[in-house]
Amino acid sequence: MGDARTRVAVFDSGAGGLSVVRALRAAGLPLDISYAADTEWFPYGDRNDADLLARLPGLMGEVVRVTQADLLITACNTASTLALDTIRASVSVPVVGVVPAVKPAAALTRTGVIGLLATPRTIARTYTDRLISTHAAGVRVLRHGPPDLALAAEQVLARQTVDPSVFERAMEGLLVQEALAGAPMDVVVLACTHYPFVQNELAATRALGGRSVLFLEPGDAIARRTGDLLGLAPGSGTATLSTAFTTGGETLRLLGLVRTFGFAAIASLADCVQRR
Ligand code: DGL
Repeated sequence: MGDARTRVAVFDSGAGGLSVVRALRAAGLPLDISYAADTEWFPYGDRNDADLLARLPGLMGEVVRVTQADLLITACNTASTLALDTIRASVSVPVVGVVPAVKPAAALTRTGVIGLLATPRTIARTYTDRLISTHAAGVRVLRHGPPDLALAAEQVLARQTVDPSVFERAMEGLLVQEALAGAPMDVVVLACTHYPFVQNELAATRALGGRSVLFLEPGDAIARRTGDLLGLAPGSGTATLSTAFTTGGETLRLLGLVRTFGFAAIASLADCVQRR
């Protein structure tokens, strides 16, 4: 009997997309999940837009071909806020893009002040400006793009020691703006897929001082959207993790991570493209 699981490819610059893989598994969808990380170019937060725009369509095409995915999830806000339309036009399967969860945050805030933590690139994008003006009118949105938080998240995931000042600086970047907001921030959007892996560290910062804020990550919403598009009901099965592809230059940290997560194999995307 053949395996009827629908194939999904999850893409990110590094290990951040694993937060979306975690949510897909938790949703109980009968999926065969492949992972692709552009390890050679990580972190995207440091890359300029022209270079990323030139790279992403071709790379996404390769990911879809090599994984034979029925659906692609660009689990990278930095890529999606720049190139989602271009990516959609370059592949023949539906694309679910992870973008900052401004709309749900605006619906959830009671104080009218939300924080947006993302890579410096995502923070500065016109896509992000548009999300805010369309979905958060009347809400004060404090934005901060810590340059080092995605890497710190990979280090935390890999159980490496991270200087806690990274997390303090990330929260301080939002909290210094709060004074001008006129009300306390009660929701923080984690608009980089790496950040859910450091939510506890952010919540425990001295800067936040034990205050309770709601950290919002998009994983569950992405899992719901994926299930809807594929006509799969939540809880109707279990996901299997097949291969994690990398683009090279990866550290042992990343390889260890995808293995710990349960991917059956790790392969070089370039080698698979050449073999085709
Ligand atoms: N995980 C990615 C995001 O959602 C980007 C991290 C990076 O490469 O800087 O934006």
